[in-house]
Amino acid sequence: MTLEAAARTWSHRHLLDVEGLGRDELEHVLDLAVEMREARRTRSHRSVLEAETVGLAFYEASTRTRVSFELAAVALGATVVDLAIAGSSVGKGESLVDTLRTLERTGVTTLVLRHGSSGAPHLAARTTGMRIVNAGDGTHAHPTQALLDALTLRDALGPLDGRRVTIVGDILHSRVARSNIHALRALGATVRVAGPSAWVAGFEAWPGVEVATTLEAALEGSDAVMTLRVQLERGAGGVAAYTEQWRLDDERMAMVLPGAPVLHPGPTNEGIELTAALANGPRSLIGRQVENGVPVRMAVLAQVTGAA
Ligand code: NCD
Repeated sequence: MTLEAAARTWSHRHLLDVEGLGRDELEHVLDLAVEMREARRTRSHRSVLEAETVGLAFYEASTRTRVSFELAAVALGATVVDLAIAGSSVGKGESLVDTLRTLERTGVTTLVLRHGSSGAPHLAARTTGMRIVNAGDGTHAHPTQALLDALTLRDALGPLDGRRVTIVGDILHSRVARSNIHALRALGATVRVAGPSAWVAGFEAWPGVEVATTLEAALEGSDAVMTLRVQLERGAGGVAAYTEQWRLDDERMAMVLPGAPVLHPGPTNEGIELTAALANGPRSLIGRQVENGVPVRMAVLAQVTGAA
């Protein structure tokens, strides 16, 4: 598919969530990301965003998301400004809305926003004229992570119809898990969430989601397993007990379907949610997830800006 054709299928000015995106829209953005992989290599799309100024405002820590958004914007020829929050007027008490309005007035046209409060990107979309891309809001959503995870799974497994993807760990506090559930379900996969009962409570009410509360029940019949960091900053506790019962290692991964890969959005806390040997071993797609971050974000920036 050409960039022009892909962009025509996308009518949104913002990417706030994957919830609500249809299968066709998801497939189109993944196909566009595949095109962007090539475009990045050949440097062929360097004027696509030349009229855009992309701002990065990360109120929470980030390595791979922030860096890959910056590289994606640069690869498409945008002017990029990173509001380094720690050195900004946020430290002088400036409110989120005032900061956003300031960015807009300086000329930022598309803002990539990460914030600890669920809904902050929605507020930004309502109160400013900038296009907003959600780079993770509280426990709510992390749409570009779900897109890059879906692309990584599709690269490894082919179409996801009928595949069972199991997400293990601190589901309760995870925006990655929530966005993955929406994207994977829309792409035809079955999603199983698994972990200590307090961390999976309520998910049985989600349509098409299976819940497992033992490791055996979690891993059996899985085509792929994603594990998550324990989100201590969002109130998760009980790390020692979790590690004993749920840490993934090569021996435990023998319970999944043969060859099933392991994924993790990063940052990993090796030794807690998975062993270093598994994270760095042949089953691991963790490096591929990071690699897919740039082309997926190129595709998203091209689509929200309507650039083609
Ligand atoms: C995740 C996040 O920030 O939600 N990281 C990421 O963007 N790859 C997961 C996490 O912080 O554990």
